[in-house]
Amino acid sequence: MYGLVNKAIQDLITTNYGEEKWNTIKERSQIDIDYFISTEPYDDSVTYKLAIAASEELGVSVDEVLFSFGEWWILKTSLQKYGGLMKAGGSSVKEFLSNLPAFHDRIMMIYPKLTPPEFKIEEEAENSLIVHYFSKREGLVGFMKGLLSGIGKMYETPVEIEHIFGKSTGKEHEAFKVSW
Ligand code: HEM
Repeated sequence: MYGLVNKAIQDLITTNYGEEKWNTIKERSQIDIDYFISTEPYDDSVTYKLAIAASEELGVSVDEVLFSFGEWWILKTSLQKYGGLMKAGGSSVKEFLSNLPAFHDRIMMIYPKLTPPEFKIEEEAENSLIVHYFSKREGLVGFMKGLLSGIGKMYETPVEIEHIFGKSTGKEHEAFKVSW
């Protein structure tokens, strides 16, 4: 994944737990990289190693680390660095999610070597919809839940997120019901 992702993990940990904790986590992860360059792609294993080391060091599950990271990605990384793009996504949770399938098309113009997620949105009811998430990567359900929660917070709209099916239940992709 692009350095932007690993850098955001570093920011999240440094802001919430301090520089020293970050150094301990980086050491525990055994990655041999001094600092991340946002626009450079890194092997996915770097990101996974950081998430696992953070979970061990902070005494929380990897899913919890990824959930916090998902919220951080929306509320800090995306809004602060790409506020214009985020605002163009819509003016409500429903609108933003409806536009999500095309979202990474624009990101690919900035980061051409991106391996983006794919989304399909299924209309459900006035106050809910189903987000179908297709990924070439494994283990990012917690991250998705955090992202969806972050999108709710971005619009100051309390949302409920239910992981309705996925690879753990024998399906080919993950599906989340989002209600508000
Ligand atoms: C301006 C805002 C955003 C930027 C710059 C951005 C950029 C990225 C980047 C760089 C990656 C790593 C993939 C790679 O390097 O190959 C990524 C992955 C991902 N992004 Fe975004 N993204 C943004 C917003 C969002 C939003 C709003 C969502 C909402 C659901 C989202 C969902 C994901 C997911 C689930 C992945 C994991 C990829 C996978 O499953 O393979 N992103 N994005």
